[in-house]
Amino acid sequence: MGVKVEKLKVNYKTLEEFKKFKEYGVQELSMLEDLQENFIENDSESPFYGIYFGDTLIARMSLYQRSARFDQYFDPPQNYLELWKLEVLPKYQNKGYGALLVGFAKSLGLPIKTNSRIKSQGFWEKMGFEAITYDVERDLGENPYVWYPEGVTEQKLG
Ligand code: COA
Repeated sequence: MGVKVEKLKVNYKTLEEFKKFKEYGVQELSMLEDLQENFIENDSESPFYGIYFGDTLIARMSLYQRSARFDQYFDPPQNYLELWKLEVLPKYQNKGYGALLVGFAKSLGLPIKTNSRIKSQGFWEKMGFEAITYDVERDLGENPYVWYPEGVTEQKLG
């Protein structure tokens, strides 16, 4: 395919590309404000990774590392990655870009937690994620799915 996953820098070009994604919101707006107010430098690190096709950002995800101290998803509690805002632009869906981003996240070797949107559950299952069936404190509408590196941990029982 000749495409690769890259870490996205915070700059006006990236923020302009972000506007094409449905899940554009508070996080992106505050990044823009931080840039405009000089709270952050141009080309600062962002939690986003993406795939470019030519000049166009066609897929992206946000990845945050969370501390074991706040973990309620894995047993024993451990550092894990929170993956969210995974989105592939409509024209580019079903060509493997979503799987490429998830594969990149997995390659970092930490358990991953995400929140599946209603219609993408089949995608997460294909990626080897499992729905959380035990009780966790969840936000309204949250539908947590987890993946763990082989042999590292097991899902909580009961
Ligand atoms: N439900 C079930 N399986 C899905 C799926 C879905 N919504 N989307 C993709 N898959 C399957 C593919 O068929 C493919 O299977 P294969 O390996 O057997 O060929 C595998 O998952 C990998 O698919 P990929 O091409 O990497 O998916 P993608 O690049 O389109 O990324 C999303 C998947 C969900 C991130 C992307 O489609 C997206 O951003 N969609 C918009 C938001 C959304 O949730 N849409 C759901 C449909 S309305």
